[in-house]
Amino acid sequence: MLVTEKNTITGEIEELVGLYGQGRSALMPILQAVQKKHRYIPDFAQQEIARLLSIHPVEVFSVISFYSFLHSEPQGRNIVRLCKTIVCDLAGKDEVEKAIKRELSICFGETTRDNNITLEHTNCLGMCDQGPAMMVNDKIYTKLTPEKAVEILKSV
Ligand code: FES
Repeated sequence: MLVTEKNTITGEIEELVGLYGQGRSALMPILQAVQKKHRYIPDFAQQEIARLLSIHPVEVFSVISFYSFLHSEPQGRNIVRLCKTIVCDLAGKDEVEKAIKRELSICFGETTRDNNITLEHTNCLGMCDQGPAMMVNDKIYTKLTPEKAVEILKSV
C-alpha cells in the first residue's frame, strides 16, 4: 500500500474516531464505515483502528472474522449470499449452489476475476417458507431453482 493511501486511510479513521469516539462501542460503527467505503477492511486500516482505539489489532481482526458482513479481503462489487441453513438445504439449496458455482466458475468464499461478484454463504435470511433463498446485495430472492439463480446472476 502506498504512503498516500496509508495517509488517506489514517485520515478517514481519525475522522470516524472523531465521530464515534474512542470507546470500544465505536469499533463496530467504524468497521462498518470502513467496510462500506472500501468494500473490505485493509490490514493497515485494522492496525490504525486498533491504534486509535487503544486496543490490540487481534481484537479488531477477531470482530471482523466473527461477523460475516465484515471482510479483511477485497470483495466484489456485488455480494451474493446463499442461505446455508437447514430449511433451504432441504428445499434444494445444493442444486442451486452447484448451478451458481458452475455459472461463475468460482467457489463460495471467492470473487470473480472481474471483481463483479463475491459468493458467500449466510445463515437464515428469514424466508424459510420460500426457500431456497439468496440475497444479492440488499435484495432477497426466494423459491430459487438452479435456472432462476443463474438468470439472477446474469442480471447482476
Ligand atoms: S433457512 Fe434459508 S431463509 Fe431460513
